[in-house]
Amino acid sequence: MMNVALATALSLAAGGLAWLTDPFQVYDNGTYGPPLQVEHLFYDQWPTGLSVASNGAIYANFPTAVNQTNTQYTVGVVTSYTTEAAFPSVEYNQPPGGFLNPSNPAFGSADPDHLISVQSVVVDALDRVWALDTGRPLYNGAQVLATVPGGPKLVGFYQNGTRFANYVLPITTAYPDTYLNDVRFDLRPSTLPSGQGVAYITDSSDEGRSGIIVIDLGTGNSWRHIDSQPYTRGDQGFISTYDGQVFQPIRQGNPNPGTYSHLTTGSDGIALSADGAYLYFSPLSSRRLYRVPTSYLLVQPSGANPNAANAAIAATQYLGEMGGSHADGMETDASGVIYIGAPEQDGITMYHPDLGMWMPFVRDPRIQWPDTLSVATNNRLYFTSNQYWLQPSLNNGTEYRVRPWGIFSVPISAGKVILT
Ligand SMILES: *[C@@H]1O[C@H](CO)[C@@H](O)[C@H](O)[C@H]1NC(C)=O
Ligand SMILES: *[C@@H]1O[C@H](CO)[C@@H](O)[C@H](O)[C@H]1NC(C)=O
Ligand SMILES: *[C@@H]1O[C@H](CO)[C@@H](O)[C@H](O)[C@H]1NC(C)=O
Ligand SMILES: *[C@@H]1O[C@H](CO)[C@@H](O)[C@H](O)[C@H]1NC(C)=O
Repeated sequence: MMNVALATALSLAAGGLAWLTDPFQVYDNGTYGPPLQVEHLFYDQWPTGLSVASNGAIYANFPTAVNQTNTQYTVGVVTSYTTEAAFPSVEYNQPPGGFLNPSNPAFGSADPDHLISVQSVVVDALDRVWALDTGRPLYNGAQVLATVPGGPKLVGFYQNGTRFANYVLPITTAYPDTYLNDVRFDLRPSTLPSGQGVAYITDSSDEGRSGIIVIDLGTGNSWRHIDSQPYTRGDQGFISTYDGQVFQPIRQGNPNPGTYSHLTTGSDGIALSADGAYLYFSPLSSRRLYRVPTSYLLVQPSGANPNAANAAIAATQYLGEMGGSHADGMETDASGVIYIGAPEQDGITMYHPDLGMWMPFVRDPRIQWPDTLSVATNNRLYFTSNQYWLQPSLNNGTEYRVRPWGIFSVPISAGKVILT
């Protein structure tokens, strides 16, 4: 701290206090890269994911919060600059028995034919809309309920709302504490013998058994890889910084309500390389980026392939730290560049796999936790900004989020990856 006499002397020498505050030519102006375009404002429910179809339709999802406001629908479609509507219908978003399991309300609903709590919505290369249902609603603002089979599932809809696929995951793939977080598709018939392609899903479970889930879209079989490994789990004692302020969550639920804790969320953001050969992922509660060749993930661990799980772990590559931020979402464009959300930098970082290099892409003080990224066919990158760390469940019950939440877009040099 400068003493008063020195400050006064400097100020007099410079002819006023302005000299003390204004001499600096290098400072953080908070912005970088292309200007943001505001695509949508959310004034009602709280969004996490979004995805854009080739006709410009924007789909979004809203994790269910029982006893709070977020219970009208968990998947929606944008209907105007400031409004959304249920997708595929209000009815599909309202399980008749409620969001909780009627026989044991400590668990989420087991209803396989309705959406319980969707964490991610993705429009695939055939313009179909997939909803990834965790089956884990947030209860009373504090507790994310465990699941029973029927809740966790991947549901496919045509844009007209007709359901064409419903992969309900067995308990051997989706554990009661699994949190299905994000999904990418490779629809090439050559990926698996059944010829319908594959879905790769991150399990970001806060409770530690995080990993990668693979679904054979032809047979509906599913299996896990890189289960409970350091690659898919958060760092112990992870501490992050938003808007220049250190953040340590204070949870209301277990294990120690009301005390400072850490984010523990595991593998969350996920991206497929433009050629489908690698799956990129990062635990939310770490700044580490990994990739694994998909050829290892496509092998189902079984008696016939007893070393498949170990082989996928051994093939996982650590690519380095992501430049001063953890990430909640990532996405590839057709040129192979991977865009990685950087909540600690109010921005988005680019990773060039061919160069093994990170580069700045965009920063703006309005980017308050970029949650999910989506490349659209119009060569623009869309993303949500949702103030994730300000929610009551991480702040001792106090709501610090302020509406509206937003969808932004920025121009990029290539379009959506089409693996069909
Ligand atoms: C802010 O700083 C960045 C990076 O130093 C620079 O590229 C950009 O042009 C600056 N923007 C303004 C408005 O000065
Ligand atoms: C929360 O919701 C459940 C299920 O809808 C209901 O039974 C319960 O009374 C509600 N609790 C509060 C505190 O509102
Ligand atoms: C919905 O779209 C699918 C795929 O384009 C089509 O096969 C189906 O007939 C449509 N259903 C309705 C009710 O329009
Ligand atoms: C959390 O909230 C409880 C109940 O309002 C309060 O007693 C406690 O002091 C708070 N904890 C912190 C660390 O602010």
